Amino acid sequence: MSDCILAIDQGTTSSRAILFSTTGECLGSAQQEFPQHFPHDGWVEHQPEQIWDSVYNTVKQVIEQTGIDATRIISTGITNQRETTLIWDRATGEAVYPAIVWQDRRTSDMCHAYSTDEEFVHYVQQATGLLLDPYFSATKIRWILDNVDGARTRAERGELAFGTVDTYLLWRLTDGKRHATDATNASRTMLFNLHQQCWDPRILSEFDIPASLLPDVLDNAAEFGQIAPHWFGAAIPVQAMAGDQQAALVGQACFSPGMVKSTYGTGCFMIANTGDQPVQSQHRLLTTLGYRLNGKPTYALEGSIFMAGATVQWLRDGLKLIASAEQSEALAKAANTESNVYLVPAFTGLGAPYWDPDARGALLGLTRDTGINEIVAAGLQSVCYQTRDLLEAMNADGLLASCLRVDGGMSNNQWVMAYLADTLGIQVQRSQTSETTALGVAYLAALQAGVFNTLEEIAERWQQGQTFEPRLSEQAREKAYDGWRQAIDRIKVGSD
Ligand code: G3P
Repeated sequence: MSDCILAIDQGTTSSRAILFSTTGECLGSAQQEFPQHFPHDGWVEHQPEQIWDSVYNTVKQVIEQTGIDATRIISTGITNQRETTLIWDRATGEAVYPAIVWQDRRTSDMCHAYSTDEEFVHYVQQATGLLLDPYFSATKIRWILDNVDGARTRAERGELAFGTVDTYLLWRLTDGKRHATDATNASRTMLFNLHQQCWDPRILSEFDIPASLLPDVLDNAAEFGQIAPHWFGAAIPVQAMAGDQQAALVGQACFSPGMVKSTYGTGCFMIANTGDQPVQSQHRLLTTLGYRLNGKPTYALEGSIFMAGATVQWLRDGLKLIASAEQSEALAKAANTESNVYLVPAFTGLGAPYWDPDARGALLGLTRDTGINEIVAAGLQSVCYQTRDLLEAMNADGLLASCLRVDGGMSNNQWVMAYLADTLGIQVQRSQTSETTALGVAYLAALQAGVFNTLEEIAERWQQGQTFEPRLSEQAREKAYDGWRQAIDRIKVGSD
């Protein structure tokens, strides 16, 4: 048996472990969902132990299933749901509070309070590339320090550590020997200065966050540490970490400025490579890191929407209109195409380009003949319209993408992909594998392990799957999209 690479993909609703050959072929995978906790309106939490168990179990399982000896795993890459915030005790490893998930809006009032200082809002945006929103880790950290008994004092004494999920897993896997993150995950905390590539002292002080909480920041391909041998039977090096959306950018080989990908997981995240210069969006997109290799940052523009697969999950688990996500395709196909039903899935507010944390969802345009098919179709269409919102903002920022690379679970839905091409009016290219996130971080680990030397070698391996061309007339496309914009106007709470 030849050497292989382990990718750990810790997502919002499930964890996966995938073993790849050094040439990128998938040798086996395991997946485990874990519980979501919604203690109050707009709050979303995960239990750190449940995250850890799901990662541990899936890695164990994929090793057992494939029969691959752990000593053959030459390298590991970790990719993760970004922004989700954990704080734990350095001595015991015990989390002081559940993980506050990226979707959580509890710090909305805190953000409003900070937003009254226009100079600070401007500073945050130009330093971190982000907008002052509860989505990012900074206000979540502050919330824990302010609300958990004794947390601030312990943090000030240097007893606590903060991390996004990558950092937490690294800490656990290395038995607390390494407290590190990578530059892409750091860039989503709202504490990281994109231009200087370091934690920003002014922002830390404004949010009252002690620097002693923070991890070291490394490149995406770097020596992150070794998995302690008692976990899986061998000391496996961790040689790559990246936020899941940035890992997908690598997996989709979007290495040239202007290339754009959208990943349909729990949410949908459109990222455009902008090269070695950060582009400041004039249309409320985020400036972020695409990847950082050999100390050299490649920047990106990102549009983030919070509910894509989560909308289908809600149709399945909340409304019980479908038994499985796959079933949504057949129902949408059978829907009355003349129906003007719009589902706006603002369950935890609206992300880009609206950034309205207080907005909530709505189902509009119901008539006596609206049935389950039309509601399911409206849920799927909402993902396409939101993607168009992002593309419009990117175009307005001068990007003018001529095609979109797509991946993630929902990209397997033929009906959605066809409707997406119709809604965007550009070609949609599905990659051969929908596992681009895991593949991307495996490629980064392979870079560090010396299997590849350049990004070009990775780009040569990208394989196109099916493509979808727009078929709708421009008039029909614009009419449907106008209806969406009107629906958005009806649910917005924020002023813009
Ligand atoms: O920013 C949040 C994002 O990283 C979550 O990704 O794949 O869990 O929807 P996903």
